[in-house]
Formats: sequence, C-alpha cells, structure tokens
Amino acid sequence: MLFLLDETGAIAIKNFKDNKMINFEAKEQKNLEKNIIPFEWHSIAFKMLKLNRLSLFVGEPGSGKTTWAMMAALKFTGQEGEILQGTPDTEISHIWGFFALANGETKFCDGPLPRALKKGRFLIVEELNLIPIEARSSFLTLRGHRNITNPFTGEELPIPDSFRLIATSNPENLKCRNQPQIAQMLLDDFVIMEVPRMTAKEVELLLSFHYPDTSTELLGKVSTLWQKYENVNKMYLSYRAAKHLMSLLLSGIEENEAIRIALINKYITDSDVFTTAQLKFSISDEDMLI
Ligand SMILES: Nc1ncnc2c1ncn2[C@@H]1O[C@H](COP(=O)(O)OP(=O)(O)O)[C@@H](O)[C@H]1O
Ligand SMILES: [Mg+2]
Repeated sequence: MLFLLDETGAIAIKNFKDNKMINFEAKEQKNLEKNIIPFEWHSIAFKMLKLNRLSLFVGEPGSGKTTWAMMAALKFTGQEGEILQGTPDTEISHIWGFFALANGETKFCDGPLPRALKKGRFLIVEELNLIPIEARSSFLTLRGHRNITNPFTGEELPIPDSFRLIATSNPENLKCRNQPQIAQMLLDDFVIMEVPRMTAKEVELLLSFHYPDTSTELLGKVSTLWQKYENVNKMYLSYRAAKHLMSLLLSGIEENEAIRIALINKYITDSDVFTTAQLKFSISDEDMLI
C-alpha cells in the first residue's frame, strides 16, 4: 500500500493488490511519512528541517515544494501546517492577525504565525520573496529567540523548540533588484535549498500514481512528450503540464491538440519562447509526416 497526496492535499491510497485509489481528507491521517513519493532532495530537506528553525526552498513552480512542506509539517507535528500565501500585498496583519468586532466586543483574531506557535504547528510561508520587506521582517524576530511579541496586542508568545517555518519561493521572485542587501539580511538565518526540477522519470512515476489505470505505453508517451517540451529557452514546464496532457488524452482529445493545449500554450506569456515552442512543435509534426 502506498500513500500519496493529490493537489488538494487529500490523500490517495493506492492499494497495489486491487489497484484502487481511495481518497480521504489529509487531516484524518496522522502519520504521513509514507504519503508522498520520496524524491532524492527530500532526505536533505528533512535534515535541514531538524537542524534549523527557518528554512527556505527555492524551485520552479510544480517542483513539489508545497507538497513536501505539507507532508513534513504533518510528519513532525501530527497536524497540518498553518499556510500563509505570500503576495506583494501581504501585510503584517496577515501574519499576526487583526482586531475584529464580534457581538459588540473587540477581539483579536490570531493570524497564522501566532496560531502556529500556540497550537504547536509549523508555519508554511509560500512565495516568501513576494512579501514586502516590512512584513517579511516579522520573521526576523523568530531567529534565536525564545519568545516573540505580537506587535498588535503586546502578547508574548513562547516559541516552542519544535517550531519550524518552512518558506518556499520561485527562483524568479527571489531576485530583489531594489534592496538586495536588506533582502539578503532577512534571509540570513534561513538555510536555503534549491529544489531541482522533476526529471522525466519522476514525472512518469507520479503519473502512474495519479492515473493508476493507465497503460505503460501511454505513461511513457506522456512523459516523453513532456520531456521534449519541458525546457524552452530556460522556461520550464511543471509536472502539472504532464497531468494536463494525460487528462486531455484520456478524455479523447486528438493528440496534437492536446500537446498544444497542455504543453505549448504554457509558454504563452513570453512571445519569443512561445514562438520557439510552436516552431519545435511544427517541425516535429513534419517529422511525423515523413
Ligand atoms: N513527492 C510527491 N509525491 C506525489 N505527488 C507530488 C510530489 N511532489 C509533487 N507532487 C505533485 O506535483 C504537483 C505540484 O507540486 P507542488 O508541491 O504544488 O509544487 P510547488 O509547490 O513546487 O509549486 C502537486 O499537485 C502534486 O500532485
Ligand atoms: Mg507551491
């Protein structure tokens, strides 16, 4: 039996004997260590997590950062992590919480950081580097200290030894042109790991779990096509593109149309790269005719 996480965070249990997938909520599962496919970088990542309170995982979208972080939080704390989705609009109140009026009373609603500290959970900060520097500096006080003070309420919160902040970022967001020194200083206490992109073999393996009833031939075909278009002028496809291709093919969409939708059009945001991808596609089309 093998446990997997699908993109909703639900666990898919694959029973190899009868090849059936059973889905249920992640929170119903306590021990998730075996729940995702282990990649080579995971073992270093676990060591980093054990040694350091703050860690940052940098990798292309779809390389499996969030999946790993969620699994690690469950594995170490028995609870899902508190997730903060970083954006350029993230403010200190999104991290700490805010005052709200309820039944005529003003109450403070804890944000993800105090919730994580109080409940013994991990804090997962997605796209850390999109968060403006003022808000990001809230995490500075987490380093080395035993307590942290909520700037809105003055509440002093102990930081459990087991507390961890797992941050993710895509490499592009990491570049800070305006204030590179401050950005570097804010990361000083983080251990930083570069997460590799998935290989075609890993993509094939994941596909075989997400589409257990699919023939080996189709699995091989999708992963080969994915690999062919995976890197165009240093822009990359993620595993999601392979999943899209697989589901389009399974729904009966004609192969070239499916390739265009799932793989080529993923490059639509950059006109040069898009043209190169289209060219690659039309050339291989002619190859097939010959
Ligand atoms: N180790 C893994 N085991 C199973 N599925 C995975 C694994 N890593 C990634 N995935 C799949 O790949 C998709 C993208 O991974 P995700 O963690 O969202 O990437 P990122 O956070 O780097 O953008 C997920 O929806 C999940 O289905
Ligand atoms: Mg992610």
